[in-house]
Amino acid sequence: MAESDVLTQPLAEISPMSPEVLACPHQFNQRLRKEAPLYHCPHTGIYFVSDYDTITKIAKDHVTFSNRFALATVGDKEVDPRIKEIQAQGYPPVDTMLTQDPPVHRRYRGMVNQAFTARRVATLEPEIEKVCHKLIDEFIDRGEAEFVVEFCEPVPMIVIAEQLGVPLADYELFKSWSDAFVAQLSRMATPDEEVAAAKLIVAYQHYFAERIEERRKDPHDDIISDIVHAKFEDERPLDIPEMLSIIQQLLVAGNETTTNAIAECVLMWIKYQDQFAKLKANRDLVPNLVEEILRLSTPTANMWRVVTIDTEIQGTPIPAGSTVQIRFSSANRDEQKFPNPHRFDVERDNAKSNIAFGYGVHMCIGASLARKEMDVAFRVLLERFDEFELACDESELSYAPNVLLRGLSRLPVRFKPA
Ligand code: HEM
Repeated sequence: MAESDVLTQPLAEISPMSPEVLACPHQFNQRLRKEAPLYHCPHTGIYFVSDYDTITKIAKDHVTFSNRFALATVGDKEVDPRIKEIQAQGYPPVDTMLTQDPPVHRRYRGMVNQAFTARRVATLEPEIEKVCHKLIDEFIDRGEAEFVVEFCEPVPMIVIAEQLGVPLADYELFKSWSDAFVAQLSRMATPDEEVAAAKLIVAYQHYFAERIEERRKDPHDDIISDIVHAKFEDERPLDIPEMLSIIQQLLVAGNETTTNAIAECVLMWIKYQDQFAKLKANRDLVPNLVEEILRLSTPTANMWRVVTIDTEIQGTPIPAGSTVQIRFSSANRDEQKFPNPHRFDVERDNAKSNIAFGYGVHMCIGASLARKEMDVAFRVLLERFDEFELACDESELSYAPNVLLRGLSRLPVRFKPA
């Protein structure tokens, strides 16, 4: 679908799940905000919500709008018998944090919070800085790099692997498992890709079940040990399927999203050199850079909610059982909240009001870690580079099609070291 079609076609003729709209949802979102901030999509039956105020209201009301959407995303579709056979060799899936509601959600959140203490995040700064410099040292003399692969992916992956307490030598395995979870989430995988992803997920389960047993006997200062030994009120400790579900969320949410935010920062540098000249002159602007990049990139572009009781949104009745998609990427460009919303402005005074980490009880548990990674990575980039330019035509840049997550698949650049 051409960009101009998204501007001119009637809304009902645009497929929101088309790879083009998923890759660049901004014009479609803008039309939704203007013409139908609550939109009942005739292609999917899903209710899309696109304005900031309604999205925050929905995210706060976890009683009416449930996160138990795992079933909704799979739907009633018959599971491929090949996948059933593979899954039988693994651990059963359980709904933990992201796909669970209060009060059960509170127990998981309480336990995992013990692993994401402010102390742990604060001590990470020198480590993240070391990782960033080491990665840059590998390619700086070349004058060019595939930035997604050589920098944006490894930074969060190395940090989370170290925090989980698993060997970096297994980096390729973590990446393949994280990609398998993302493929499952994308809803765009072919049946064969789904089978391949199921095999990788079972391999992930066995690998981490072993690490869990090791930490049970011999705790270290790492997240797996904290999760294995976490206590919350009088609740029983977490069992292995619960821990696997939580570690899976940390692995995926901790990687893909932060990678996408860092890549978007380099793209913004290429597009808005004047803004980065300001940053070069004044590093105090970096915390606001982090917020403005979160706002514009919104790596978790969309999220599901399932309606538990007959309700209404903006006066429109929504029956129980409906699937609602809250479009964080649209809220973060809502002109009522962010004037001139598509413009990258490192001095935007309300950039921090972005809801890239969500809102309400499910608000991202890794937000302070992600902010720290972005802050350190951006400072190191400003220190090591003077200029970036694209090493391909802008039309060759592509965003991986995914209904929930959004980010550049590649970013070939040439650069001038500082
Ligand atoms: C720029 C990076 C990140 C972005 C944009 C992001 C975004 C989000 C959003 C929007 C939610 C809320 C989902 C909802 O409302 O249903 C969320 C939840 C979550 N995030 Fe993140 N995230 C990021 C980084 C991380 C990191 C680094 C971790 C952990 C290592 C993490 C772990 C989680 C988990 C476990 C949840 C579920 C929390 C719950 O349901 O209570 N995220 N994230």
